[in-house]
Amino acid sequence: MRFEHVLVVGAGQMGGGIAQVVATSGRRVSLHDAVPGATDRAFATMRTSLVRLAEKGGADPDEALGRVSAVDDLVAADLMIEAVVEDAKEKEDLFRRADETLPPAAVLASNTSSIPITSLAAVTSRPDRVVGMHFFNPVPVLKLVEVVRAVQTSDETAAAIVELAKDLGKVPAEARDFPGFVSNRILMPFLNEAAYALLEGVAEPEAIDTIATLGFAHPMGPLALADLIGLDTCVAIMEVLHEGLGDPKYAPCPLLRQYVAAGRLGRKSGRGFYEYG
Ligand SMILES: NC(=O)c1ccc[n+]([C@@H]2O[C@H](COP(=O)([O-])OP(=O)(O)OC[C@H]3O[C@@H](n4cnc5c(N)ncnc54)[C@H](O)[C@@H]3O)[C@@H](O)[C@H]2O)c1
Repeated sequence: MRFEHVLVVGAGQMGGGIAQVVATSGRRVSLHDAVPGATDRAFATMRTSLVRLAEKGGADPDEALGRVSAVDDLVAADLMIEAVVEDAKEKEDLFRRADETLPPAAVLASNTSSIPITSLAAVTSRPDRVVGMHFFNPVPVLKLVEVVRAVQTSDETAAAIVELAKDLGKVPAEARDFPGFVSNRILMPFLNEAAYALLEGVAEPEAIDTIATLGFAHPMGPLALADLIGLDTCVAIMEVLHEGLGDPKYAPCPLLRQYVAAGRLGRKSGRGFYEYG
């Protein structure tokens, strides 16, 4: 399976990045989003990123972007990678529709951070061809792809996605389908604890983040990282961890919920723990 034509669904911060790296690898990409204007914003972000990467010897921006087309609906392709909102019902509906639209041999992959791949596979007629392909933000920069095997995923499908990740210049790491997989099971409690430290007045946001960057040699602090991921996405992931693992330690900090209710979603809305120009 070489996946010459890839359908990327969801043109937010992750979907745009995924479309960019797939197109840079020489493949044709169809990019779909349910919200009008989202693909235009994704094209603008992809161009900025590609121009920056071209200055360091990366691919020609026009050539890469020439391989990406915006599409109004799902289309037939060899592979779908979905990066829509982190909501189980939305994703299950999408997998049902994709199962009807893409040819039976196509693979359906999800970039979900936490929603069980096994449940997404179960709503399709090809559960052996459903898999998690979890990229990291920003996609054009970060090397890791967590390849998540549902209970039903075949060895052939998992191996094809591992090969694709390598061909995109990424480093795959395989995980089984368990709430939050490996990455978010470790990351989310860290971000949540930082939110609690802020809520309880232990320190100001800048001090919390400085302690992580200088003390633990992290490239960014937990509050800045939560803003980058999106506080809505963080809360959605924590809900899945909380429900799936049944341990109250995974419940989202009330401050996170409050910020989300106020529309303070992080960088994508201009304000989260910090303000963005
Ligand atoms: N943000 C991160 O750091 C990060 C990292 C890894 C994985 N993820 C996962 O990637 C997915 C997307 O996250 P994001 O940060 O890009 O979110 P986002 O809010 O930036 O983008 C989501 C996009 O999906 C679109 N959308 C929603 N429902 C749709 C549907 N039914 N059909 C087509 N388009 C639809 C929205 O209009 C929006 O443009 C989530 O599952 C998230 O958990 C996010």
